[in-house]
Amino acid sequence: MNPSDIEKQAAAVAAAELVESGMKLGLGTGSTVAFLLQALADRAIDVECVSTSPQTEKIARELGLNVSSFAGLDGVAHLDMAIDGADQVDPAGWIIKGGGAAHTREKCVAAAADRFIVIVSSEKLVPALSAPLPLELLDYGLAATLRALGTVSLRDVPRSPDGGVIADWLGSLDDPASLAARLSATPGVIDHGLFSPDMTERVVVAEGTTTRHIMINA
Ligand code: 5RP
Repeated sequence: MNPSDIEKQAAAVAAAELVESGMKLGLGTGSTVAFLLQALADRAIDVECVSTSPQTEKIARELGLNVSSFAGLDGVAHLDMAIDGADQVDPAGWIIKGGGAAHTREKCVAAAADRFIVIVSSEKLVPALSAPLPLELLDYGLAATLRALGTVSLRDVPRSPDGGVIADWLGSLDDPASLAARLSATPGVIDHGLFSPDMTERVVVAEGTTTRHIMINA
């Protein structure tokens, strides 16, 4: 394994230790989460999981994890905990997610959870956030949405499982709160990959095989 994967695995194993039997658990998406899924399977505890992507759901089921629906009125409505990776974490606890284009679902799952735990390798800790910032856009009115946003580029990837168009904001991230408010207020933006500090309980970061818990909202 390369040094980054060793750290991703260490952070994932440390976060899996926070999971207790009987919990309803949200599962993020990405390579760090893949290590989490294995760590949860290794612990063989009884948890009810919801997934943020078809990829995570497939791996989780193959590992024997119990995956429930998070869709529609028959889906799970409340989660005890959600665990997910991230692309960037700044010193104030602002987080960029969506490198894997799953940020809209990931934010829904994080918001439904009492405790949102972020797991990262050390290179994800940055002094300041920078572009690209993932976006999910409605196809209807897409040209007008892109014009309103200005500094944005479409990503050459399939649509999200919910039909959204994936794009990236390429402008300044100097003021994440203002940008988040602006993007949320732009018609046609389904969601963006900025997660505010008040969403996250802690960031579990690995430096080598040593893990550290950065408490954001204890
Ligand atoms: C997917 C995400 C991922 O959590 C993020 O991109 C980090 O991915 P990885 O764990 O593969 O480095 O937000 O939408």
